[in-house]
Amino acid sequence: MTDCQGDGQGARTPMELYERLNEQGDKVRTLKTAKAEKADIDAAVQLLLKLKTDYKQMTGQDYKAGCPPSESTVVSDNGPAADGTNEEDTVDPWNVSTTNAKGVDYDKLIVRFGSSKIEKELVDRIEKVSEQKPHRFLRRGIFFSHRDMHQVLDAYEKSKSFYLYTGRGPSSEAMHVGHLIPFIFTKWLQDVFDIPLVIQLTDDEKYLWKDLTLEECHRFAVENARDIIACGFDVNKTFIFSDLDYMGASPEFYRNVVKIQKHVTFNQVKGIFGFTDSDCIGKISFPAIQAAPSFSNSFPQIFGGRKDVQCLIPCAIDQDPYFRMTRDVAPRIGYPKPALLHSTFFPALQGAQTKMSASDVNSSIFLTDTPKQIKNKVNKHAFSGGKDTVEEHRKYGGNPDVDVAFMYLTFFLEDDEQLEKIRQDYTSGALLTGELKKILIETLQPMIAQHQERRKQVTDELVRQFMTPRPLNFNL
Ligand code: TRP
Repeated sequence: MTDCQGDGQGARTPMELYERLNEQGDKVRTLKTAKAEKADIDAAVQLLLKLKTDYKQMTGQDYKAGCPPSESTVVSDNGPAADGTNEEDTVDPWNVSTTNAKGVDYDKLIVRFGSSKIEKELVDRIEKVSEQKPHRFLRRGIFFSHRDMHQVLDAYEKSKSFYLYTGRGPSSEAMHVGHLIPFIFTKWLQDVFDIPLVIQLTDDEKYLWKDLTLEECHRFAVENARDIIACGFDVNKTFIFSDLDYMGASPEFYRNVVKIQKHVTFNQVKGIFGFTDSDCIGKISFPAIQAAPSFSNSFPQIFGGRKDVQCLIPCAIDQDPYFRMTRDVAPRIGYPKPALLHSTFFPALQGAQTKMSASDVNSSIFLTDTPKQIKNKVNKHAFSGGKDTVEEHRKYGGNPDVDVAFMYLTFFLEDDEQLEKIRQDYTSGALLTGELKKILIETLQPMIAQHQERRKQVTDELVRQFMTPRPLNFNL
């Protein structure tokens, strides 16, 4: 993308050009307000127009102040903060909603965000390179989108390894099953590729966004770490950190935060995240803190001074804005761009129009729920795609595409054939809603009981080990 000649003034990426445009627009306004010489104003306007043409050429989009370019150069919509005009789905780090009972239109999201679909070919490749059957989340399109995964595999095949980075915002003690999705998948990736993992607990973020004290957020971080550890991560290959602790303890981490802060403007984060002038400055600078773990030299104890170890981030698609920003600054501060694997959302019990939320007790199955609570919640609240009466259901069949119990089974039931049979039987009407829910309840109850059992085994000492900066065990 270096073909932006002339007064594009060396802008290499759409984002750089976009920034130039913002600056130039400001300049024109300043000149006009100051009643500057006509010739000066004309020159500034000419340059502005030239930049707009360059921008259109580079991105295929018209420049709009407040709407930064998305990574893909062909789409006209510009990511989460800019949407809402003619899109019905809202997807950003703070809100997920759609009017469609089947859930968010993920194919549209791929186009809007400019990421790539995880095609069968990529799943096959992961299988070949890892020599393992692909995880059910890959087989079933739950991880559905990526950035640069082919590049990661190309390098891995040439014996160039990578590390994993994921995270969690500890907004309460109560984690629900939806929160486990990225961790279950990350654990699988760690096992099959045998690579190090860093997990960021953004207690600082939750302090900035919620009405909580610093102490509460930090305590939630440590409590959440227990649930994360209970997913089975290898202590010799995993570093879990609270921002509140690690930022102060690691000069290298903070240096990267500052570098990122220097290379992202207020205009950019406004465009990407929708911040306004009345948001506190902590929020405005926070994205740099979520970006920093994408660069290996933020963890000298793990990677020595190396800054070139490729990072792969498994996360839910709503976190993508942070990493679009990260990928944009990476080359400008001399680091490789992180690659990404994006998951769909875990639907609320009431239906796929929104995701499961810890603040709505009835929308969620918590990791602390008893077998009886699980049974009651599923029976009472899980939105059903079945018909109103048994007679009708037998006659017309149910709709698994909007049925939350069926959706949950696609996340948690391992056996593909069994799942397909359930789909067919439900669709034909042979399987009733109550029977479908029973299968789900019997899948969730042991799964959650086992999680609780493993969590009990997580001692304070083990938490301390995971959260201590130290070398990890791996070969790069
Ligand atoms: N912001 C995320 C949240 O609120 C937490 C997070 C930090 C994260 N770093 C991450 C999530 C990396 C996924 C990947 O949950």
